[in-house]
Amino acid sequence: MLSQVTNIDEMYAGMKERLAKVVPDVELRYKAELAVEINKLKKERNAVILGHNYMEAALFNSIPDFVGDSLELSRKAAQTDKDVIVFCGVKFMGETAKILNPSKKVLLPSNKAGCSLAESITADDVRALKAKFPGVPVVTYVNTYADVKAESDICCTSGNAKKVVESIESDTILFLPDEYLAGNIARETGKRIIFPTRSLAPTPLAQGDGRRGEGTIIGWTGRCEVHEKFTVNDIKTVRAQFPDVLILAHPECSPEVVAASDYSNSTTAMIRYVQETNAPQYLVLTECSMGDNIAAANPDKEMLRLCMVRCPHMNTITMEDTLEALRQDRYIIEVPEDIRVRAERAVKRMIEIG
Ligand code: 13P
Ligand code: SF4
Repeated sequence: MLSQVTNIDEMYAGMKERLAKVVPDVELRYKAELAVEINKLKKERNAVILGHNYMEAALFNSIPDFVGDSLELSRKAAQTDKDVIVFCGVKFMGETAKILNPSKKVLLPSNKAGCSLAESITADDVRALKAKFPGVPVVTYVNTYADVKAESDICCTSGNAKKVVESIESDTILFLPDEYLAGNIARETGKRIIFPTRSLAPTPLAQGDGRRGEGTIIGWTGRCEVHEKFTVNDIKTVRAQFPDVLILAHPECSPEVVAASDYSNSTTAMIRYVQETNAPQYLVLTECSMGDNIAAANPDKEMLRLCMVRCPHMNTITMEDTLEALRQDRYIIEVPEDIRVRAERAVKRMIEIG
């Protein structure tokens, strides 16, 4: 495993083997040196590095002790016995690590790694919704800050949202803040969806897909600034050129885009799907570094790299800043204890469901 390697030649050879087609050689040499410095310091500080699937290819393939999606990394954060958790991901992920393992020091290499979904809703917004819909259970996507999680009954990730919604014994559910994830779950579960910020009018999706089942999801209008950019037209254009292409879309894409795709699930589930299937070409509608990471792990598969978009927040996490995080003990993630305890309840409920 390269995450333990502290010899430059060994690190460079290992990275080259995996990344020769994805990262230019001159960058590989420089990144191999950085990776070795990080690994040495990681050992000295008794730290663990967690890397989200959206990390840039050189980082993703060298220093993380564990890589994965939000759910997998939450589990790893909860289980670690290391003193320091360095989270190569965005702030809400670092907060989730702190919520689940409060005695550890959690470091986020950048103080600019936000998320448009997490920014889209505040704890005050959730309290106002709860006052408007008393007694309605609140499900929040993990892409939210700790104070929003603290107002929730249960959290979910892109990988378990359907399971979480189906576990709730209530006809009506508040599902916050991702409008598109809510729409996709409504479609999968046959529930209708309404948005209180849109005068409580059912959306065309809820009225038009002919699968209206039991129950109502009350959504919020947050969106991922990356996934909202993909369109059905992108899919049509690619399918016209490559009729047998297999298209995967993250559930933060619009319900129309997900419906026009062949598969939709969490980032790790999409990686596995590419590994386990055999299509002439693949198009993964998600953050662009993950396309590099899939291409690196599957050199025999043809990845189409059309209309890929880099998350500006994930992009702030660099190997240089990860080294500085370990050197300078920055940026420390803190969650006030009263908020942490309430948020932990919602996150742990989700983890129990799976
Ligand atoms: P995953 O939980 O699928 O890794 O998604 C996290 C995310 O931020 C996607 O944009
Ligand atoms: Fe947030 Fe979207 Fe970036 Fe994921 S890709 S961290 S949802 S802005």
